[in-house]
Amino acid sequence: MMAGPAFSLFTLLTALTVAPVIQAGNPDPDDPVARGEYLFNMGGCASCHTAREDYPLAGGLAMETAFGVFYTPNITPDKSTGIGHWSEADFIAAMSQGKAPDGSYYYPIFPYNAYSKMSRDDLLDLKRYLDTRTPIVLKNRPHQPSFPYNFRPLIALWRLVNFDGAPFQPDPDKSQAWNRGAYIVNGPGRCNECHSPRNFTGGISTDARLKGNPLGPEGESVPGLTMTADNRISQWSDEDILFSLKIGMTPDGDFLGGSMGQVIEDTTGKLSEEDLKAITHYLRDTGESK
Ligand code: HEC
Ligand code: HEC
Repeated sequence: MMAGPAFSLFTLLTALTVAPVIQAGNPDPDDPVARGEYLFNMGGCASCHTAREDYPLAGGLAMETAFGVFYTPNITPDKSTGIGHWSEADFIAAMSQGKAPDGSYYYPIFPYNAYSKMSRDDLLDLKRYLDTRTPIVLKNRPHQPSFPYNFRPLIALWRLVNFDGAPFQPDPDKSQAWNRGAYIVNGPGRCNECHSPRNFTGGISTDARLKGNPLGPEGESVPGLTMTADNRISQWSDEDILFSLKIGMTPDGDFLGGSMGQVIEDTTGKLSEEDLKAITHYLRDTGESK
């Protein structure tokens, strides 16, 4: 009788630990499409742009926010309803400036604030990977922003306050691992987007970065990741942090859930051990004011 639950826990653990170990490695540096796929996972694009498994990347996910309901667009290479007709310049402007081909600005619910930290080479590899995806014909659903956010030019104002648009600048006084971690956490990994509190305009409070967010994307409380006593991650070993990012299990045997569950499935569970270590290394260096 007792063997049942113990066995299923064992099977679960084996399944969870074996799977990521097999897939997680660095992509072949000479293969731009493989590099692009890796960056696609790092950016968690599928989390938002795949609403239905049978329509990968065709969008349609309804995102309910305090600013209204937004629907993710089709980013497959379909030429009429997706982004198959986009030039490299169009893609770079969208990802790093939040600017659409018609010159209008995207709502920051598309986390281009984070993607603007990505290098041009990384963005081009990401596009090469997206170009290899199956084109799917599916029209975008119009957003339903609430008043006054239905006025797109208002985004220009938001950008003035909240968007710096500068690519990531490595700190020459820090190690390569630290800089890699900083790039992922503040850039494509989007950790900063959820784990930092937001000000009343919906922008990230820069003086409280990674200190936790009482009102996360699914209305849940997002724990802080800085190494201060109020954040439990500060008591975890490097292995504990690595393990939680790989399979979502915390040192006390709980599983991380909510929006982090999706992040583990689409992003951190697919990153190389080297990158997870870089993230951990960077987080270790975040204290009171960082
Ligand atoms: C948190 C959800 C979210 C994530 C993660 C996300 N996006 Fe989006 N994306 C959106 C939303 C919402 C829009 C629509 C914004 C608007 O219309 O103002 C959008 C718009 C876009 C557009 C513009 C499409 C068009 O037709 O104009 C592109 C391109 C895009 N995203 C690519 C990506 C890529 C590549 C990734 C991963 C690196 C990614 N997105 C990750 C939510 C997301
Ligand atoms: C979409 C929002 C979102 C993103 C993006 C995100 N997180 Fe999380 N994270 C959460 C939420 C919500 C929790 C709490 C989950 C729970 O308690 O079940 C969490 C929990 C964690 C925890 C456990 C901390 C604790 O005290 O329990 C760690 C570690 C973590 N995230 C690291 C990261 C890293 C590293 C990244 C970037 C690669 C990241 N997160 C990106 C939402 C997010």
